Amino acid sequence: MDPQDVLSLCKRRGFLWPSYDIYGGMAGMYDFGPLGVALKNNIENHWRWLYVLQEGFLELSCPLVAPEPVFKASGHLDTFSDMYVECTKCGETYRADHLAKDLHENPATLNEEQLGGLLRAKEVKCPSCKGDLTEPRRFNLMFKTMVGAGKAKAGYLRPETAQGMFVNFQQVYRLGRERLPVGAVQVGKAFRNEISPRQGLIRLREFHQMEAELFVDPEDKTWPRFGSVKGEKLVLVANTGEAKELTLEQAVRDKVIANEVLAYFMWLTHRFAADIGLDPARMRFRQHERTEMAHYASDCWDLEAELGYGWIELVGVADRGCYDLSAHIGHSDADLTAFERFEEPKEVEQEAVKVRFDVMGKMFKGETKAVAEALSKMPVDSLKRRKEVAVQVGGKSYSVPSECFDVCMRREKVTGRKFVPHVIEPSYGVDRIVYAVMEHAFSRSKKEDGDYVTLRLKGLVAPYKAGVFPLMAKDGLDDIASGVHASLSAAGMHAYLDDAGSIGRRYARMDEVGTPCCITVDYQSKDDGTVTIRDRDSSEQRRIKKENVVLAVTRLVSGAGLKALEGL
Ligand code: GAP
Repeated sequence: MDPQDVLSLCKRRGFLWPSYDIYGGMAGMYDFGPLGVALKNNIENHWRWLYVLQEGFLELSCPLVAPEPVFKASGHLDTFSDMYVECTKCGETYRADHLAKDLHENPATLNEEQLGGLLRAKEVKCPSCKGDLTEPRRFNLMFKTMVGAGKAKAGYLRPETAQGMFVNFQQVYRLGRERLPVGAVQVGKAFRNEISPRQGLIRLREFHQMEAELFVDPEDKTWPRFGSVKGEKLVLVANTGEAKELTLEQAVRDKVIANEVLAYFMWLTHRFAADIGLDPARMRFRQHERTEMAHYASDCWDLEAELGYGWIELVGVADRGCYDLSAHIGHSDADLTAFERFEEPKEVEQEAVKVRFDVMGKMFKGETKAVAEALSKMPVDSLKRRKEVAVQVGGKSYSVPSECFDVCMRREKVTGRKFVPHVIEPSYGVDRIVYAVMEHAFSRSKKEDGDYVTLRLKGLVAPYKAGVFPLMAKDGLDDIASGVHASLSAAGMHAYLDDAGSIGRRYARMDEVGTPCCITVDYQSKDDGTVTIRDRDSSEQRRIKKENVVLAVTRLVSGAGLKALEGL
């Protein structure tokens, strides 16, 4: 399917369109119109229903701007970059790996030198003017801003909603009654200064995410609800290159998927996508290659959908290990650990930090005692395999090299176990999902629909749940139709009242925006209090009592079909 057909329907019917059009537009930015907002809200609300109501995650809402230390700690300041090349003739910039997409199986895995070498060897030129290209250079994707006047501090627009949840781990853990697993979610905007956003909603500079961060015990990555879904199948393309359809149980047993928690949330992601109308036959999970993985991830699977653009990542489900919490422990004063209290104190041999006062004394002089104390309180995991660690004392940061301490085994009587939780993260891109839902619904449209498209959206996400038409805008039919419309609105259902043009045209207008059913008020309605209700997908109609309209629309929206209207 040509994505332009979908995008032109989106623009024509008020779903979405490129921003700042009257000033020539701005690449990577889209405005959502009334129907797009409604569709997006319906998708987000179903996600909340699943994650907050069914799975018990705690929803947060954090600022869009964060101070620099947050992204220093998270690694985004140093490593969140893509490579670009510039045309030496026309000045156009391109993502270097995108220019190599037909030259290598997975150019995202190549470093600057390899990518530069490949583009040179294949004599790749500027796609628009055929000019020579520069060597690839790295470009940090975060938008920087200054916060406050005078001695303003640097801040960054968040490139993911996730960091807001990591820095709030203490609150989330406390609100979760200091037990693991505990999860937080956030729905909101994220910003990335993408190098060349050219594919509609797929690569934006300002976009929406729905992210869940599940904090788990690293020694227990089992999941209580796994048993209820273990027989479900997913199409998995592991980084060995093989595509297989496996049950979740087989995938975890054969170590294709690393653990039960990751597998469960991959299944939940698949279920969500199917619920909102993505075609399961055009979905798969692809595992990242080691060299492709984000700096924080130890394993990552993308839910991809087959679209007019090819296979596109909609959701990333990653095991982030203890990367994020350890990083924020290392850069702040905060204790972002969890504690498992034993029933009885235990004598255990465990790793402990041993400060080398001889080395430290020479470096930190009068501050040695305070720095050593703060260092000893840090979780051992956050000190291992580090050349130096940042230790906070009274708001000041000290960089302590690894020569100043050893990690050794020590026998101790302990009341519990203190550890840095691991994070499993399903991260959903809303705009890509909105596009995918539109394209899959569009491609279910049948030829015999005539010269207009019937957008076969699932009722759950359809912007309007019903169209309401008086046959004539007179003789009291208009008043009855207004009453029907008001009853649907009062029940929380967005309905569209339309009294203009032929009934056929009115059906067509509603079919084209995916409205699951339409109600027509005619002269018989005045006599016997009935109305007709038409099902979008079969075009069949039934007569029902006016007072049963809300129930009938609810049933059709749920996909129950006209047979579910018997007796109404
Ligand atoms: N917290 C992890 C994270 O942000 P990601 O894979 O970079 O992971 C998650 O992003 C999802 O956000 C992606 O699967 C994609 O759907 C969406 N996304 C990422 N960059 C995007 C962009 N520039 N435009 C639109 N959506 C984007």
